[in-house]
Amino acid sequence: MNEILSQGRAVELDDVQGLIRFGYKHLTEACFLLLRVKDPAAARTWLAQAPVTSAVKADPLPETALHVAFTSEGLRALEVAPDLLAQFSAEFVAGMASDAARARRLGDIGANDPSGWKWGTGNRMPHVAVLLYARSGQLTAWEQEIEAQCGAGFVRIERLSTSDLHGMEPFGFADGISQPQIDWERKRPVRDQDQLEYSNVSCLGEFLLGYPNEYGLYTARPLLTPRRDPDALLPKAEDAPDQADLGRNGCYLVLRQLQQDVQGFWSELNRQADGDVDLRERLAEAMVGRKKNGEPLVALSEDSVAGNDPAQRLKLNDFTYEADPRGLRCPLGAHIRRVNPRNADLPPGPPGLLSRLWRMLGFNATARHQDLVASTRFHRLLRRGRTFGTDVTPALSATQSSPGTETGLHFICLVANIKRQFEFVQSAWVIGSKFDGLTGERDPLLGHRLPDPGDSPTDGFSIPQADGPDRRLNRLPQFVTVQGGAYFFLPGIRTLRYIATTHSKGL
Ligand code: HEM
Repeated sequence: MNEILSQGRAVELDDVQGLIRFGYKHLTEACFLLLRVKDPAAARTWLAQAPVTSAVKADPLPETALHVAFTSEGLRALEVAPDLLAQFSAEFVAGMASDAARARRLGDIGANDPSGWKWGTGNRMPHVAVLLYARSGQLTAWEQEIEAQCGAGFVRIERLSTSDLHGMEPFGFADGISQPQIDWERKRPVRDQDQLEYSNVSCLGEFLLGYPNEYGLYTARPLLTPRRDPDALLPKAEDAPDQADLGRNGCYLVLRQLQQDVQGFWSELNRQADGDVDLRERLAEAMVGRKKNGEPLVALSEDSVAGNDPAQRLKLNDFTYEADPRGLRCPLGAHIRRVNPRNADLPPGPPGLLSRLWRMLGFNATARHQDLVASTRFHRLLRRGRTFGTDVTPALSATQSSPGTETGLHFICLVANIKRQFEFVQSAWVIGSKFDGLTGERDPLLGHRLPDPGDSPTDGFSIPQADGPDRRLNRLPQFVTVQGGAYFFLPGIRTLRYIATTHSKGL
């Protein structure tokens, strides 16, 4: 089936790149080629027929997949008209490492400073990312085939390799559990103004341009007069049917190479726990907000078990923090609680009109507390990252030195609005040193530990206790370092062909 139909309006799945719909868990091998255009005409020739995988469900599952995304410099190098480029979002046009203010907001300072990145600045800024996925044992041949095809048009500046750590991230925790559930059927009311409960369902327009988002609005994107699309290659804009929609069925892709100091992480926890192995594990779990097998700390129950079974994964994700307002089970500052506080627009409370009015006016104490964290539904991320490097056994790395092991996460998230989704989560919730009533700490896994202005420290982590003051970890070192990054546009497949062919017509 090429289309998911609802309300008479279909989502053209054959025009959507498959990465938006699938994580390709069965394609355990992957690499990301970062390319620069060397010959624009040859580059466009390849892009015009590149074998991009669509979001149509294949049966049997595909053996390989390929995706193509562009930086704004890449679109410029392919000679896309400047006035079209200017219609993309400002942060995409400027780029991830555009200026010092953005770097400060994203936490890209100190050891994360773009001046030390392996790629993502100057002539190490990729124009195009080609993401390749394959079943075990098939990547090498797939990569050779693609490189032979695109060699005439591009030069490779970086190859990001990935490694299959079997659903775990390098610190040793299950990863890839929580994802927003995208409303492909378009059933979610587009103007759902007062969300009474947290929902994991997100409007399609949060992740795909050209559809209504959680505000019931269409995210700004390049729209063209029909004259500029003489062959009618592009879909029409839903909200402006006389215009061709260059954004429809595409989204933005944020890529960051995050190196993890696994040994540093576990030996620090060992120090904080005075060598007590059980305590060391519990401190690490408190920082993540889940046990190593993925069980959420707030919702531990006898029968919850981790695994790859989708039904079990759902169970692992079916919780909120409503019953744990003080963070006694899952610390307020734990990684997963920061990046998705799972709250609704209206703070929780008893049913009834009066109670609702009371809460809307912000009178009860819980409401004041909850108000400190913005509504989650406008800040969801669809994660598609892959791990890299060797598997460092956490137990070993707590006490022994494992020399020079490069391991980490090629973090990828897909969003319709880089600023409201990725940049907000990264700057306000991950790097922000004031979050949900906490001060003096950033995300315990991801934060840099540089002091705030006025020299106030940010290297702590608070673990609330039922019967006394918070347990406080201090002087945490930095565990994750940014080694590269860029903002990309992952176009719809018709837009990709348009970009590849339009130049010859002088549009
Ligand atoms: C090396 C870096 C990182 C590590 C080790 C890491 C680790 C984890 C782990 C173990 C989980 C829980 C498993 C899951 O729900 O999938 C998780 C969830 C998540 N992470 Fe990260 N993460 C990293 C970077 C980031 C970054 C940079 C962001 C965003 C700016 C982010 C956003 C999220 C989100 C949104 C979730 C899901 C939370 C939820 O819905 O409960 N992570 N991460």
